[in-house]
This record gives sequence, C-alpha cells and structure tokens, in this order.
Amino acid sequence: MIEVANRLHTVEEYYFSKKLREVNLLKASGKPIINLGIGSPDLQPPQKVISAITESFADARANQYQSYQGLPELREAMASFYRDQFDVYLSPTTEVLPLMGSKEGIMHISMAFLNEGDEVLIPNPGYPTYTSVTKLIGAEPVFYDLKEETNWQPDIEALEKLDLSRVKIMWVNYPHMPTGANATEVTFTKLVAFAKRNNILIVNDNPYSFVLNDSPKSILSTPEARDCCLELNSLSKTFNMAGWRVGMVLGKTDYINSILKVKSNMDSGMFYGIQKGAIEALKCSKIWYVSLNSVYERRRKLIWQLAKALNCTYSTNTTGMFVWAKLPIYVKAEEFIDLLLKENHVFIAPGNIFGSNGEGYVRFSLCATTEDLEEALARIK
Ligand SMILES: Cc1ncc(COP(=O)(O)O)c(C=O)c1O
Repeated sequence: MIEVANRLHTVEEYYFSKKLREVNLLKASGKPIINLGIGSPDLQPPQKVISAITESFADARANQYQSYQGLPELREAMASFYRDQFDVYLSPTTEVLPLMGSKEGIMHISMAFLNEGDEVLIPNPGYPTYTSVTKLIGAEPVFYDLKEETNWQPDIEALEKLDLSRVKIMWVNYPHMPTGANATEVTFTKLVAFAKRNNILIVNDNPYSFVLNDSPKSILSTPEARDCCLELNSLSKTFNMAGWRVGMVLGKTDYINSILKVKSNMDSGMFYGIQKGAIEALKCSKIWYVSLNSVYERRRKLIWQLAKALNCTYSTNTTGMFVWAKLPIYVKAEEFIDLLLKENHVFIAPGNIFGSNGEGYVRFSLCATTEDLEEALARIK
C-alpha cells in the first residue's frame, strides 16, 4: 500500500461529495428527495450559447489544444463584460485570464502567491474551498468573523489588531456565499486601504454578482484596488454554465502573469466550443438578466415561506442563489437538516459546514423548480 502525501491528511472529502452519496442512496431506495442543498443551476444557458457550442464541433480548430490564455476574442468579451457591467476597464491582453471555473482560480492563485507557513485570512462563514486549498498548499488559515449583527461585513479594526506579519492573502466574497450579504462601497474602500497598509493581496471571489442583485459591484472599481486586489468571476451562475466550467481572474498584469505561470503548467487550454459559447453568453443583453432573476425571485418567495414554516428567520435584503436562515435557537444545524431529510425527504445545507459562525443557520438553494418547492412546502406544513 502506498502512503498518501502528508498534505492529504490536512483536508477531508468535501461535505457535499459525502452527503450527496447518502442523499443519492435514499433516492435510489425510492425516497422522493427534494434537493435544496447545492447551488447547481437547473435552468438552461442562453440558446445562442448552446448553438455556438454545437456549431463549434464542425470547426477544424475544435479538436486542437487551445491557448493557455484562452481565445483573444474570449478575453475581449470578458474585458467588455467588466467594462459594461462594472465600469472597470481592463486590458484584454494582459489583465484578463480565462479559467475553467473560479474554483480552479483559488488553487492557482494560492500556488502562485503562498509559501508554506504563510497565513491566509478566510471568512467565517465562507466557501470551504478557501480553507482546504490553503491547507493543501501548506499555508495556514486565519479565520475572520462575519456576523449577522454587522450584516456579514468584515471588522477591519479587529483585523488590524492581529499580528499580520505572515498574512499574504485575504479571501473576500461579495455577494457573500452562504449569507447573501452584499459589500458596501465603504467595505471595499476599507478593505483596499487595509490591504495596502499591510501588504496583503485581497481576492474578491465574485460569482454571484448577477443573481438577485440590484447593484453588482467589482472590488476593482475601488480606487487603488489594482495594486493589491484580484477578482474572480464565473459564468456558472450568471449564465447557468456551471458544468461547462468557465471563469476568469482579473487584475494587474504582473499578478495575472504569475497565475498564468501556474495555470499553463496544469492544463492545456479550455475546449474551443466552450470558449465560443462563453463569448456569446458574455454578450447577453439586459433581457437575459431580467428573465433569470424573475425565475429566482418566484422561487425565493416560496423558500421564504418554507423557512417560515420551519420556524426559521431570515433577511429579505439579500442577493445570490441561496436563502440563509437562522434556526430556532435550540437546534444544531446538522441535526436539523438530518431530521428534515429523514422525515420530509427535503435536503438543505447545514450552516456549520461554512464555518463555526454558520452554526445555527441553514442554507436553501434556489436551484429547484417551483413545483418542487411547493411540494417541499406541502410536506413541511
Ligand atoms: C463562493 C464561491 N466561489 C466559487 C465557486 C465556484 O464556482 P465555479 O463554478 O466558477 O468554479 C462557488 C461555487 O459554488 C462559490 O460558492
């Protein structure tokens, strides 16, 4: 038996990878499970995206290795998207790097900037991948609190009191998953000043900017952010392309070149057809966003009713494709979701998997049809 590398002992299998096995077993045994656990878009991508991908099969270039930096027209489409949506002007040749999803960017950025023993500021609650990647690299997670009382914004004054001498990267994620909180401009301004003062690279992970969000923001529009910030974005949720894997990292040329150094040694380019589809997606007009959000809006209203029926409380002033709800005080999140799964065959995510500050909360995904949501509601009532 060959021993695995030590780094593998620092992480566990992803919660959903384990839990969905259990959920799927229940399904296979005939239980009518309604899965509100994960944020995997069930809606279709724009039709012109599917057409562009389909047509690409006939192109002689489709089977070849693709550029490590993506097609020039894809980078141009990404730069135009940032200009039109966020008023952020980027050079498509040097400040935009297409990725296969933003998740892989978390690893690439960490490999590019972290040495063993470096520290990384990670939101609690937050996306678990920031922590696992940090550990796999041999760096150390330092969790910073996000609390409901302060609308899940970081307490910069408290951070400033820490010993920051070993901190190299800070992960920021607004609109925030799992809570749906959005950053204020003040938060971004304070973050940029904090990063500059302490020589920290801030990465804003921004895949939820266009789901139920009236004011999409990029940290790169904050004055002086380019010196110390990168942004990740993704087509997974905005254009329902999660399985096709298209994301991007944006920022200063030197930082992008360092990430490319890692990435170009790890993959050999993104499938041509997906790039062609992504270009079409990024050119979508306002109508796309309006129709996407009208579906999510209807679903969210039903989930609010569901949360209420479960005696949970929630804010209605949130963004993104989840409803984050507080449990009645005496219930632990994992016990609560297990009971719901067993008794009502409805699966939702326990908040504690996003960090200790998520204990006492649960997360409902909007990626389910209104029929499923009505059925879940009927079961719970
Ligand atoms: C906060 C956050 N960042 C990144 C990702 C990864 O998205 P992508 O599909 O772009 O890799 C997710 C996906 O669930 C997420 O919730």
